[in-house]
Amino acid sequence: MRPFVFINIAMSADGKISTRERRQVRISGTEDFSRVDRIKAESDAIMVGIGTVLADDPSLTVKSPELRAERVAAGRDEHPIRIVVDSRGRTPPDADILHKGAGRRIIAVSRAAPRERVEALAEHADVIVTGNETVDLAMLLADLHHRGVRRLMVEGGGTLIWTLFEQGLADELQTFIGNMIIGGADAPTPADGRGFLREEDFARLRIIEITQLDDGLLLRWSVEKG
Ligand SMILES: NC(=O)c1ccc[n+]([C@@H]2O[C@H](COP(=O)([O-])OP(=O)(O)OC[C@H]3O[C@@H](n4cnc5c(N)ncnc54)[C@H](OP(=O)(O)O)[C@@H]3O)[C@@H](O)[C@H]2O)c1
Repeated sequence: MRPFVFINIAMSADGKISTRERRQVRISGTEDFSRVDRIKAESDAIMVGIGTVLADDPSLTVKSPELRAERVAAGRDEHPIRIVVDSRGRTPPDADILHKGAGRRIIAVSRAAPRERVEALAEHADVIVTGNETVDLAMLLADLHHRGVRRLMVEGGGTLIWTLFEQGLADELQTFIGNMIIGGADAPTPADGRGFLREEDFARLRIIEITQLDDGLLLRWSVEKG
């Protein structure tokens, strides 16, 4: 058993999620910002890869006081569990994700993570060890389900999202397409990694929703199974 896994990503009209320097950029506007805050508040947990933590230092907190109050009124923590997929325990001990906002944190590491880094992270977060060199995502999702996570939001980046698609572990993709061109052959995209080679291996999607939002478009896709 695993949680329902949905991916939320903002990309430019040319399919880039940041610049070639991997610098965080503003792609969505205020309407999309509110939408993302709401879907965060509706999630049990939010997951990112270590690349995103090192590039953007996100806190992944729910920003709206009303949404936080609704969570508390429903008997939940103010913020969803924040999770970093981080094979070697490279999350900086002063990263915002470990400090901003009340609530639980999980750092998922592999058995290759140096023990002193794991011990330092364990002061701020629960540590899950799974996989030899990289984090075993299927095992991690099973563990999260066991801990009560039913709805998991993935906020990037492209390497983590690629692996979720490659391993058939994604259920839904929500893409906000912003009204700009970022360009750059090396700029990250929603699914990087190695990429599929054969058409029969491509992950296939079905449109659930198309909405104009801010000066861009929100596209929701469900991932076809099998
Ligand atoms: N526009 C948006 O909505 C948005 C959202 C988020 C991020 N971003 C951008 O995305 C970029 C970061 O993306 P990224 O691709 O560099 O990093 P990422 O996907 O956030 O993290 C990837 C890293 O996670 C670790 N990892 C461990 N186990 C893994 C597994 N089984 N599968 C995949 N990864 C695993 C690997 O590092 P280790 O081997 O060291 O563990 C891997 O390099 C930044 O430029 C950021 O600004 C944009």
